[in-house]
Amino acid sequence: MLDTLQDVLPEQDIAQDMRVPVVLIRGDGIGPEVADATCRVLEEVHKGFDWLEAEAGAAVMEKGIKSGLPPETLDKIDKVGLVLKGPLATPIGHGGKSSNVTLRKLYELYGNVRPIQPLPGLAGPFADRDINFTVIRENVEDLYAGVEHMQTPDVAQCLKLITRKGSEKIGRLAFALAEAEHRSSVHVVTKANIMKLTEGLFKSSVEDVARDHLNIDLDHMLVDNCAQQMVLRPEQFEVIVTTNMNGDILSDLGAGLIGGLGLAPSANFGDNVAMFEAVHGSAPDIAGRDLANPTALIRSGIMLLRHIGQTGAAARLSDALMQVYREGTHLTPDVARAGTGVSTMAFCDAVLAALTDIPERPVPAGTPLSLKRPHTARRNPLSTTRNFDGADVFVEWQGDAPKLALALETVLAGTGFDLTMISNRGTMVWPQAQGRPDTVNHWRCRLMAKAGSGADEADLPDLLQKLSQAVRWMHVEKLETVNGAPGYSLAQGQS
Ligand code: NAI
Repeated sequence: MLDTLQDVLPEQDIAQDMRVPVVLIRGDGIGPEVADATCRVLEEVHKGFDWLEAEAGAAVMEKGIKSGLPPETLDKIDKVGLVLKGPLATPIGHGGKSSNVTLRKLYELYGNVRPIQPLPGLAGPFADRDINFTVIRENVEDLYAGVEHMQTPDVAQCLKLITRKGSEKIGRLAFALAEAEHRSSVHVVTKANIMKLTEGLFKSSVEDVARDHLNIDLDHMLVDNCAQQMVLRPEQFEVIVTTNMNGDILSDLGAGLIGGLGLAPSANFGDNVAMFEAVHGSAPDIAGRDLANPTALIRSGIMLLRHIGQTGAAARLSDALMQVYREGTHLTPDVARAGTGVSTMAFCDAVLAALTDIPERPVPAGTPLSLKRPHTARRNPLSTTRNFDGADVFVEWQGDAPKLALALETVLAGTGFDLTMISNRGTMVWPQAQGRPDTVNHWRCRLMAKAGSGADEADLPDLLQKLSQAVRWMHVEKLETVNGAPGYSLAQGQS
């Protein structure tokens, strides 16, 4: 262990014996068992690790630190920038948020990288398939920004926030990884056919980034199709880059293809911190029994080795792991054939024994996946034009649409705004309603500035004051045309 934090991660490729400080969060439940096993095998292939142990998770929450992350731990992560983390429990009843999510947010770990590669010898419906792809999930934006509001007592809203900056950052990460792994294609996966602005911005931002990487093909796929393609023809994928919610689901689907979350590694990258962790939880049902499978964290450790430029050591450890799985005689009970399961430490011993057959190899030439350079997002084009068109005012109303329209039109008389459309849950219900949409007490009222009235956004406070006389409004969205295209969606049924 290091006594001081003077050492920092070097920017350049490192020699095979160079000291590398890593913050080690052993975690809760089976965390210490899988972390100890992982450290043992990592130390065997790279002699230079200095593990800086740091506390986090349930035990910290029980001491009254709701985040589960004491300042000393954050201080170490700040200084070292490299973390190996076991699972952290989120105890029910301590009022704390997930320490995992907090860590991702605090260090802007925007890139969740989940390689999907099967292990040999395991039975399963995809056992013989040539699966080898990586899901790259944007990790901090989208619905997971966690911006939620009750709009009425009966209607909840979650803001889906997608930014050009965030989308370009993850796009750059995807292409950096594709290049580091000598991949020939990237799929950008979205739901841009429905969410044309948010998912559409993600798609177009990644397409912008792709123009700097013409050696790699970029294909677009809709997320629902991608889910079935991952099951039908997983061989077609090399790198998938996608938004947070899509990625959450697709990466677990990918883990399912190769035998489950217990085998799936993951890394979380920010500009200053890289955190390597297993995807599974703390497995309290088997904690302390020397039964846990450390494969996922070992594979995350292999990603860490690659990240620090130790690609030779990474390949060696990966080969040893594969050999143990191929032999199939020293696997933990979760993946072993019935009655043949061994302990965590016996599995670890088998990996160490396999390593003795695999010669040390030099760090191969090539680009390690080093992401310590800052990512700079492109600016909006300087020529951006924006014209004020009006406002969508969201109101709570217990009656029907025609009565709401009447109430609004009465207050709008004499203002520079016209009521042009009312929708309910996104479907137009006034001036025409098609089909038989059901309605709730939450209405979007589109108020457009009248041509030639000179009405602009400065008139909105007065407008809202007037509307308050007739309805209870809960939020307002300004409507602008940006670079000649409406910066807002039409309602379903509106043309
Ligand atoms: P879990 O992943 O801990 O366990 C689900 C099942 O999988 C259990 O039967 C468990 O024994 C088994 N399992 C998981 N990892 C295994 C391994 N390495 N070897 C063998 N068997 C394994 O999920 P659960 O029970 O929903 O969550 C338990 C705790 O973990 C909760 O407090 C949760 O918040 C936390 N958690 C933490 C995560 C993280 O740190 N990234 C991720 C998921 C859950």
